[in-house]
Amino acid sequence: MTGSRAEPTLATIRGVAALRARVAGWRQAGETIALVPTMGALHEGHGALVAAARKAFDRVIVSLFVNPTQFGPGEDFTTYPRDQAADAGFLGALGVDLLYAPTHDEMYPDGFVTEVSVPGLADVLCGAARPGHFNGVATVVAKLLTQAAPDAAYFGEKDYQQLIIIRRVAMDLNLGVRIEGVATVRAPDGLAISSRNAYLSAQQRAAAPALYAALNEAAQSIGDGADMEGACAHGRAALIAAGFSAVDYFQCVDVGTLEPVTTRDRPARILAAAHLGPARLIDNVAVAG
Ligand code: PAF
Repeated sequence: MTGSRAEPTLATIRGVAALRARVAGWRQAGETIALVPTMGALHEGHGALVAAARKAFDRVIVSLFVNPTQFGPGEDFTTYPRDQAADAGFLGALGVDLLYAPTHDEMYPDGFVTEVSVPGLADVLCGAARPGHFNGVATVVAKLLTQAAPDAAYFGEKDYQQLIIIRRVAMDLNLGVRIEGVATVRAPDGLAISSRNAYLSAQQRAAAPALYAALNEAAQSIGDGADMEGACAHGRAALIAAGFSAVDYFQCVDVGTLEPVTTRDRPARILAAAHLGPARLIDNVAVAG
């Protein structure tokens, strides 16, 4: 590095014992602690999670671990973008206190077999298209929450199903951690910010905001009294017309149970996942009550 500009530095820990020692020191000083779990390739969406955590807690830990068990065969585990130095620079500038970047062996030592599964919630929507994905997520998040023992952990609402599943895990396993959801950060044209947007060509990137537009249109027409299933069918057709090759789902669901909703008698969200070129994009919006 040349020049006089000081780069922010960030303490990095790779093992559970060192993490627990650091957390114990903060606890002894009476400090509160938040954890932001990530797989790196950090962007403004992660920045919003950190900002929310920073505002409410004395200490913020960000974990960075590209978790192999949540990727299916043929998915992008090996090509998932990895640049830990850039991520550390980004987090240092946001005032994060600690980067926890465990090694593979620290997370999955020889003989590791235990799995956290959340039947029902994890089998539908993205779980139907990506079998085993949410077992991988639930297992690694349960481990991270147990290792860091924070007061709260922060997750994006963009991955709405993930957020609901993690809330269930934290509750069922009495982890004693508050699970906070943070609103999706969007590009000016509405596309939800995601590490996987990098897979889109310029032409695909131009078509991608159709996902949020279709979700908004469906939510708006349901709010105006349209039939929920009809509005979702219209949304699916709009995505194909915009150049998406397939729609895994575009569905109104109960905000807490993720069960399909066809009548406006309980709080609902519309969740969608669709394929555009090499990317599978997901997004969701609330249906006005
Ligand atoms: O949302 C993610 O980045 C991951 O699924 C998570 C929660 C960090 C678990 O690996």
